[in-house]
Amino acid sequence: MSARSAIDPAALHDDAFCRDPFPVWERLRHEAPLFHDTIDDVYVLTRYDDVASVLRDDATYSTWIYKTWFGDVMGDTFAQHDGERHTRERARIAPHLVGAPLDRLLRPTVEAVSVEVVRELPKGNIDLIGPFTFRLPGLVMASLFTIPASERARFLELAGAISLGLVGGEDELAAGRAARSELEKWTTLRLAERRSDGGPDDLLEWLRGPDATGAVLDDDYICTNVNFLAAAGSSTVDYALRNVLWVLLAHPDLAAAAGEGNVELLDRAVTEAFRFAPPVPYEGRITTEDVEWYDRTIPRGSIVRVALASATNDEAVFADPRRFDPARSDVWAGDSRGGIRRDRSASHLAFGLGSHFCAGYKLSRLEAREGLTRLFRDRRPRLAEPLPPLRIHQHHLTIPCLRVTLAQGG
Ligand code: HEM
Repeated sequence: MSARSAIDPAALHDDAFCRDPFPVWERLRHEAPLFHDTIDDVYVLTRYDDVASVLRDDATYSTWIYKTWFGDVMGDTFAQHDGERHTRERARIAPHLVGAPLDRLLRPTVEAVSVEVVRELPKGNIDLIGPFTFRLPGLVMASLFTIPASERARFLELAGAISLGLVGGEDELAAGRAARSELEKWTTLRLAERRSDGGPDDLLEWLRGPDATGAVLDDDYICTNVNFLAAAGSSTVDYALRNVLWVLLAHPDLAAAAGEGNVELLDRAVTEAFRFAPPVPYEGRITTEDVEWYDRTIPRGSIVRVALASATNDEAVFADPRRFDPARSDVWAGDSRGGIRRDRSASHLAFGLGSHFCAGYKLSRLEAREGLTRLFRDRRPRLAEPLPPLRIHQHHLTIPCLRVTLAQGG
């Protein structure tokens, strides 16, 4: 099958696509599973198995391109490296965000932040985007960096500006650069203090301390990784919480289950929401050698765009994919690292796959579980306006606003 097709590349960029990308992705999966989008000059892969195989092969499909895309607003990060260096640097933080460390350090933090965020939401008609969806993960990240209470609001602004700088226009880019500079000054000061006084068991310390081989990172590189983690840990959860709220509010039985503390059903709804509407619709890679796809050669140095949101709606893997159904048996419901494809079920790919699989996948799920249970139990949100449709917004698959009426807090 050829990358040349009757589909006009403009169909991947116009307003109709942003309003509903799923019909275009469906066409691509059937008619042009490898599609050369000549407008962005990227090769788009849309089928589940193709997307998964790219993400599993970081030797051929490198994240090195992130340096070009994100370097301006964040600087160099461990996510742009592959192979041994990436594994070593990722190991500084990833083990702290799962298993016993997650339970010991992060669970109490997420619980406390959820209580605070839900309690402080005003009564009446409000937009949950921001005061709930961003504030919750933003404060969790602030706590992970041990940001003092007096500086938390500013930290949230900086994390938000860096995140928007990655996806917005010229103004957002300028604001993102300024936020980066301010956050780096803050981090540099903290590093200097910690060099003389040490620091608490937190994300900055995991980056600062020696790794298993005794190696330490230089201050500039710690700063740029703080930029990255502040943004990655807050904005992606923001978009994900919007989508989970969207499905809960569209299904009153699920909203009621969340309020009753039915964690099992809520977890299934979250998993299905990640499959149905993964907030990060695409990832990009750069090829390190010529590769063959569907009888076509993609030259070395090309950008391959893997459409996660198309893959998780691939009808060859998930029956009737645009049907939201937390009880479906073809999505892998376990809380695993992803990449499961067996017993006629497959993982959602919302957190990616392979060596760059999201380090915050357990933390995000914990935030969704704690935050949403508390929101639905204590504040009983009811739609104040019709649900806006999911769309591509700021390079994410999500909703731009969500107005609800909240009951008085307890
Ligand atoms: C539901 C919320 C989240 C979603 C949808 C999400 C999505 C993703 C995706 C798709 C990737 C893969 C990127 C790639 O393959 O190029 C990724 C990587 C990553 N995420 Fe998340 N993420 C979420 C929450 C978080 C949180 C809370 C944190 C931080 C604590 C975090 C930290 C990271 C890091 C550090 C990486 C890079 C891993 C690596 O390169 O080894 N994410 N995330």
